[in-house]
Amino acid sequence: MEFELLDKKIDKISADCEVVFVVDKNLKHKWIKDSEHFKLLKFKAEAEEAVFVPHKKRLYIAIGSLEHDSIRTACAQAIRILKKTNFQSIKIGLYAGKEFAPDNIRSIAEGFILGGYIFDKYKTKKVKSRVKKIAVSSEEYSGKTISAKVIKEELRTGKILADAVNFTREIANQPPDDMTPVQMGEAAEKLAKENDLQCKIYGEEFLKKNGMNAFLAVSRGSIHPLRLIHLIYKPKNAEKKIAIVGKGITYDSGGLSLKPPSSMVTMKSDKSGAGAVLGVMSIVKKLNLPFEVHGIIGAAENMIGGNAYKPDDILTAKNGKTIEVKNTDAEGRLVLADCLCYAQEFAPDYILDFATLTGACVVALGEYTVGVMGFNKKLKKEIMLAASASGELSADLPFNKYLPKLLKSEIADVSNMSSSNYGGAITAGLFLSEFIKKENKDKWAHLDIAGPAYVEKEWGCNPYGASGAGVKMAIRWMANLS
Ligand code: BES
Ligand code: ZN
Ligand code: ZN
Repeated sequence: MEFELLDKKIDKISADCEVVFVVDKNLKHKWIKDSEHFKLLKFKAEAEEAVFVPHKKRLYIAIGSLEHDSIRTACAQAIRILKKTNFQSIKIGLYAGKEFAPDNIRSIAEGFILGGYIFDKYKTKKVKSRVKKIAVSSEEYSGKTISAKVIKEELRTGKILADAVNFTREIANQPPDDMTPVQMGEAAEKLAKENDLQCKIYGEEFLKKNGMNAFLAVSRGSIHPLRLIHLIYKPKNAEKKIAIVGKGITYDSGGLSLKPPSSMVTMKSDKSGAGAVLGVMSIVKKLNLPFEVHGIIGAAENMIGGNAYKPDDILTAKNGKTIEVKNTDAEGRLVLADCLCYAQEFAPDYILDFATLTGACVVALGEYTVGVMGFNKKLKKEIMLAASASGELSADLPFNKYLPKLLKSEIADVSNMSSSNYGGAITAGLFLSEFIKKENKDKWAHLDIAGPAYVEKEWGCNPYGASGAGVKMAIRWMANLS
């Protein structure tokens, strides 16, 4: 999908269809040219209501405000309607005024591309959108508040971000047998080549040599070899070093603590943290971020079998800590424990991990919200602000001094499962903190994306399935650092 800013009045632009926002039921805006038909079409301009006026080829979408998220969602809604048509080009105006900030323009590009995504790789009949071109008219803003240069830049950034989110969605949506750890490694190598990144892929031998026994244990029941993936973006004169770590469980059956059938369905999405890391790494260079970024992924499959790790096993992680396995379904934290130790070897200034870590996080926050954990309140706040500015929902899940006690083991340094039924998202975060060195505690944040990463229904700009959660908030957070 291509965007073009045209210095022309909207009526002078030729396109198959025009998209018009009706903001806060205000039918007086000069771009609302068909209000006489609204009554007949029963269009009341309630938020998210849409109406197509066929003989005028105008699609009206009602939005509650000119806030960036409303615009993003409205554009996604528009493209969902238009992709069912044979329209190939769309035109849209910009709404002038103080509130029409650069973010709103970025949201137009994001909304159209995110809403246009369909996972139809396995459909014999494809339903691909024919919309290829979106013309944006400069009428109304006309240099008043935002320069043409800024508008073009915002459209470009929006496109880059949304393409990265779609890339992440594609990774997470792949069925488990088509995205094994080895295949994920290959996808990372391809991405590295295309984006001029360094790429290191390690297997079992490297992990054995480096004492990453927690990660190794999780993979033992699978016939698919594990992969530790390390992508590096190193611009000249990098201001800071950032490590992003992703949980890449290509399938989570639960292992010997087997999941019940209904919970196992969708567990192909347990690689969404890895997908987010790949999505971010796919654009760090295009966005010219002035940081050294390390993308680290622990890719493994959690399966049953004669060689599978067991409840009662005791594992020694890379930092020497011993872990009593009480539940093999709490596998993500074991993989991340070793990956976080590995990430700290590169002395990063910040370490963020992305993981579909707990069902408890979904219970706590609902399926649309990322759980943000860590010791550094300022860092958490910055991440949450970046999330909301980029159109993602997040909430703080606070640590406290009582919860760590729930991870005590009688026979090892720590247990991989809490002794309480409550607060499971936070105790999982606290488990990870056991593998963060004292001097790095304030540099680290843990993002539990178990809720929003994969939802079996359409929501906002997201389709059924993988949403690409984490990508936009991570990039926004990084951009705000510079
Ligand atoms: N991958 C799951 C968490 C998950 C649940 C992600 C639902 C997405 C949707 C994770 O590995 C897991 O199974 N966690 C257990 C931990 C428990 C055994 C301590 C859970 O949440 O039940
Ligand atoms: Zn699990
Ligand atoms: Zn898992």
